Amino acid sequence: MSGYTQDRRINIRDLSGMKGGQPIVSLTAYSAPMARTLDAHTDMILVGDSLSMVVYGMDTTVGVTLDMMIAHGAAVVRATQHACVIVDLPFGSYQESPQAAFRSAARVMAETGCSGVKLEGGVEMAETVRFLSKRGIPVLGHIGLMPQSVNAAGGFGVQGKTDDGARAIRADASAIADAGAFAIVIENTVESLAKSLTGELKVPTIGIGASPACDGQILVTEDIVGLGGNFMPRFAKRFAELGEALDDAVGQYAAAVRDRTFPAAEHCFNPPVKASGAKPRLAAVSPNLKGRRGA
Ligand code: KIV
Repeated sequence: MSGYTQDRRINIRDLSGMKGGQPIVSLTAYSAPMARTLDAHTDMILVGDSLSMVVYGMDTTVGVTLDMMIAHGAAVVRATQHACVIVDLPFGSYQESPQAAFRSAARVMAETGCSGVKLEGGVEMAETVRFLSKRGIPVLGHIGLMPQSVNAAGGFGVQGKTDDGARAIRADASAIADAGAFAIVIENTVESLAKSLTGELKVPTIGIGASPACDGQILVTEDIVGLGGNFMPRFAKRFAELGEALDDAVGQYAAAVRDRTFPAAEHCFNPPVKASGAKPRLAAVSPNLKGRRGA
């Protein structure tokens, strides 16, 4: 179970209050069934733009649209009652200006019902973070490795290894914290830097490949359950092999169809055998089941 036991959805203030306390447990979800499972165990669910790769098979997160994020965000909010749901602003929907960011974020908030948005960037995004935060839009920052900038950065390497790199990340962190970000995701960043940032910042840090020193952790759910394909980031850990279980189930179904053991009698619809002289009657369908598949 999540550390929070209130009979209501965790909000931004609750997450802020977890700074320095029990770690914030966070995972990604893009669909209602996954979100339903995560809801009982997590404090925060991120509808991440990683859905580009995980769900849509793209190579990077750059191709995700605002409409895609809204459709998946709304599904996740509908399926949850407990976890705080945050939705990623996709590439191109916020970098142009604080006003453009506000229009995108307002659509995301209004059309999904989520509690806040996440955007990537540090010093250069501070003005935008301030603009949104002051207008009622809670912002989760994202620094260190920023996948939306992969084309400019030239890859997905570990961040903060050099003095200059560490200085830049430190400047990014304090700029967006000062601008009002309620928490900051630190991705793929050396442990010593993530640790000192966590000590210095007043807002929670949420690490992904940034050490247990952070105030919370986040991973892509498919990576931890074996549904993420062959690529596995070094910072992730497998807690289940659902890919193998799925392969096994689909293989069993295919074999059963081919050898005609499925569908069996209990999956078929047949009128009851009529007694001689009685009128044939089909079994009545309960009004509650009308309209359901197979009713
Ligand atoms: O898009 C995403 O899934 C993220 C991570 C922090 C997991 O940004």
